[in-house]
Amino acid sequence: MGRSADVFDAYGRYYDLLYRDKDYAAEVDYIDSLLREHRVPGRNLLEFGSGTGKHGRLLAQRGYDVTGVERSAEMVARAEQTNGFRCQEGDICTVQLGLEFDAVLSLFHVVSYQVSNSAVSAVFARAAEHLKPGGLFIFDIWYSPAVYAQGVEVREKKMSDEVTNITRLAEPVVFANENRVDVNYTIHSTDLRSDDTETILETHSMRHFSLPELDLLAEINNCQRLRAEEFLTGRDAGENTWGVCVVLQKS
Ligand SMILES: C[S@@+](CC[C@H](N)C(=O)[O-])C[C@H]1O[C@@H](n2cnc3c(N)ncnc32)[C@H](O)[C@@H]1O
Repeated sequence: MGRSADVFDAYGRYYDLLYRDKDYAAEVDYIDSLLREHRVPGRNLLEFGSGTGKHGRLLAQRGYDVTGVERSAEMVARAEQTNGFRCQEGDICTVQLGLEFDAVLSLFHVVSYQVSNSAVSAVFARAAEHLKPGGLFIFDIWYSPAVYAQGVEVREKKMSDEVTNITRLAEPVVFANENRVDVNYTIHSTDLRSDDTETILETHSMRHFSLPELDLLAEINNCQRLRAEEFLTGRDAGENTWGVCVVLQKS
């Protein structure tokens, strides 16, 4: 029987299996190279929307000290804390740690999960408040030119491990005047030991962004954009670039 849940509540139980094919090590190589190239002043990082801690733990292995803030209790519970990586439950729109970091990271579309203008403004303000002068805000977003050029489509993904089979159907609905796409997820899971099945429904509302609006948000928060490029490859952003990585620097 299907049931609705808060975003990442039920989904969080299957998150690591759903993204088992995601190359977190390569992503951390890429982030590490951005931090070095832009001469981040130190090794203290704040991670917004740290999820199950995959990036955070890998960055800690490279000598960074990472503090994660994550809204979903389910995701926090699954995020193993290690030497150099800790995380806490919190909302990145309101978090106030009273500390300044060398960089704020927000990876795998976390900023795109902020749909309203008030949420977006709040996240940029919280990032800037937690940065030392010269510190970096590195995040990736869904990029408006690519969403318009490519359009959206229904997708199915299947993953399994020794105990679980999952099929995830993603059905997007476009709200063209709001720069928003609601992705309706239906996840069917089967426990291979008991044959029990479960169906979960979650809607993830995603906002896509253009560079002029990001530059405006940067300017309002005393930051400037150092780069915007395809996440991971570093290619120029354009109509083929769904995921764009942006690096801002606090003045
Ligand atoms: C696609 S997941 C990415 C998780 C992790 N960064 C990763 O790469 O695996 C998006 C995450 O952002 C979190 N998130 C979204 N909005 C948030 C907010 N306002 N405050 C804190 N966490 C938020 C969600 O709970 C979810 O864990």
